[in-house]
Amino acid sequence: MITGAGGLIGSACVRELASQGWSVVGVDNNMRQAFFGPQGSTEAVVRDLHATFSAYRHYAVDIRDRVGLRDLMREQRPDFIVHSAAQPSHDKAASIPYEDFDVNAVGTLNLLVAARDYCADSPICFTSTNKVYGDRPNTIDLVEHKTRWDYADGRDGIDETMSIDACTHSLFGASKVAADILCQEFGRYFNMPVGIFRGGCMTGPQHAAVELHGYLAYIVRCAVHGIHYSVHGYRGKQVRDQIHCDDVAALFLQFYNNPRAGAVYNLGGGRANSLSILETIQILGDMGFPLDYTISDKHRIGDHICYISDIGTLRSDFPDWTIKYELAAILEGLVTQYKHSALQVTG
Ligand SMILES: NC(=O)c1ccc[n+]([C@@H]2O[C@H](COP(=O)([O-])OP(=O)(O)OC[C@H]3O[C@@H](n4cnc5c(N)ncnc54)[C@H](O)[C@@H]3O)[C@@H](O)[C@H]2O)c1
Repeated sequence: MITGAGGLIGSACVRELASQGWSVVGVDNNMRQAFFGPQGSTEAVVRDLHATFSAYRHYAVDIRDRVGLRDLMREQRPDFIVHSAAQPSHDKAASIPYEDFDVNAVGTLNLLVAARDYCADSPICFTSTNKVYGDRPNTIDLVEHKTRWDYADGRDGIDETMSIDACTHSLFGASKVAADILCQEFGRYFNMPVGIFRGGCMTGPQHAAVELHGYLAYIVRCAVHGIHYSVHGYRGKQVRDQIHCDDVAALFLQFYNNPRAGAVYNLGGGRANSLSILETIQILGDMGFPLDYTISDKHRIGDHICYISDIGTLRSDFPDWTIKYELAAILEGLVTQYKHSALQVTG
């Protein structure tokens, strides 16, 4: 069972599992369209999943619907769950605090209780976020280079020992902290095989990118389609590591084969897949897509200056897992996707 099956991570997981012969049940009510407007709709992705995988079954159940989700869990009793349905935007949450919390925190509780009652031994992968660390990563001393910020102490990245306490999270970060802790608790208290994956920037060609969520895909979309892009603060040198959704899906299958109750992992592409916004703009220019952009002085509240995931724990717990998509391949995939959709728009 994959919640958020029409979204970026959910649909990648459907493809990975269905192509390996799994019978996959998707749960997604296209709430992404309600959050972000028609550009955020996941309808086309779900249509494509149906067309590609005849055994795929889709349920437009709202994870806030406790009874509906419970009934579905009782009926299906899945032997593996990926929980990726969410309100995913850091910035959007402030304007829809109830919906954000109801989907991210309460929806996760609904799923965990139903799973505990009907399939407690089935591994669950929960897509948490590095926003659970709030703006604490910004307290690490940084050095400013020509095109990016970096850690002054030479660390590779941020590991799971960083405190999630006493910092500014955004309402999104707070609702995800609630969900993250609930998942850990169902792992520890009920000994359920729940894994908590704190993602940084996850991306891929099927991302229904919008300004408020999916930074890399959105910036590529702007460059390819000639849309103006606003960089928010930090002189455009803010750094993120990128991971392709297919690498995430492959990792989740590794967790299915080797689950650990309540384990927490930072998930990203690591230092090798890190880049700043200025570096992104430079690469896109070199690829023939100069970006029309402005840089404002004002950064987004709680936004990280430099966030690179330390994926050492993942690597040691899942030694067979490797990152297949390097930055160049990720960017090429996004450019190809948006060139294709530009052709469709212009006919
Ligand atoms: N994409 C990233 O860069 C990133 C980074 C860190 C963490 N995450 C986390 O990964 C998960 C998936 O992110 P994504 O990028 O695939 O997001 P997405 O928006 O592409 O997918 C989420 C899906 O959940 C569905 N959904 C939302 N509310 C629902 C509800 N009430 N009931 C049923 N379905 C609902 C949406 O329609 C959407 O298809 C989220 O939990 C997000 O917080 C994503």
